[in-house]
Amino acid sequence: MSNSKGRWALIVHGGAKEIEPHEEEANRTGCIEAVNAGAEVLARGGSAVEAVEASIRVLESLPVFNAGTGSVLNNKGEVEMCAALMDGSTLDVGAVGVIKGVKHPVSVARSMLRQDPILLSGEGAFMFARDNHAELCDPADLVTEEQKEAQDTVGAVALDQNGNLAAGTSTGGLSGALKGRMGDSPMPGCGFYADDHIGAVALSGHGEGIARLAAAAQIMGSIERNGPEEAIRKALEQMHRVGGDAGGIAIDRQGRAGWWHNSPDFTVGMLTSETERPQVWLRKDEDIASHG
Ligand code: GLY
Repeated sequence: MSNSKGRWALIVHGGAKEIEPHEEEANRTGCIEAVNAGAEVLARGGSAVEAVEASIRVLESLPVFNAGTGSVLNNKGEVEMCAALMDGSTLDVGAVGVIKGVKHPVSVARSMLRQDPILLSGEGAFMFARDNHAELCDPADLVTEEQKEAQDTVGAVALDQNGNLAAGTSTGGLSGALKGRMGDSPMPGCGFYADDHIGAVALSGHGEGIARLAAAAQIMGSIERNGPEEAIRKALEQMHRVGGDAGGIAIDRQGRAGWWHNSPDFTVGMLTSETERPQVWLRKDEDIASHG
């Protein structure tokens, strides 16, 4: 099925957003730390699912990112989070929406992977997390001073040595959003998708716009023809129809990785079996400049 046997690739992002100069270093180092955590899994032959979870857990633990610790607050001053994980080898999806009081929503999503439901929300998601030994916390522990106004989502996409693909997302949603609101991040075909026969993608940005475009589905539909970067670029060109900024990362079944954004900044970290150390960029201009 895949011609990538033995090769692996990982790409992570810290959100489609505007980064203040004093936050640049924390965004860069956070993405490198996340890449290293996932790459360690892939280099030793671990699965793409495990690698994506490992990378996103790092991003969820760092206050500079709007996911897990550091999530933004809704219009009631609460942290409500969404996360998802998709296994491209089985098409299993695990996702949680508006979950509270867990440290790592992506790990709750992972424990749903072999279960029937693909998406649990609110109290039901919390009960599932508690019954499946997730790391629980006081919701107030997730609130940090610097994240109260930020808007973004984190994500990761991986190809493992067996040619299996996975995609994951995690977010605190949009600052000041209506209580109970869910964006694109827990919805397959909108904020993420993975299929070993095609590729894997994770998006970030204005969730309503991304969902209305079914952006992940659009990217999956053209990734083979256009390659990952062009497929994302073409889908995000449509954002003007629905409003809002977005960014995306993707890997196709051959192991080609790409990313694009129309937000001011979009920190991306990448490492593959062919590169010696992680590369990280704060925005596409940096990547383009490094090639030219
Ligand atoms: N993209 C994250 C959200 O809109 O909730």
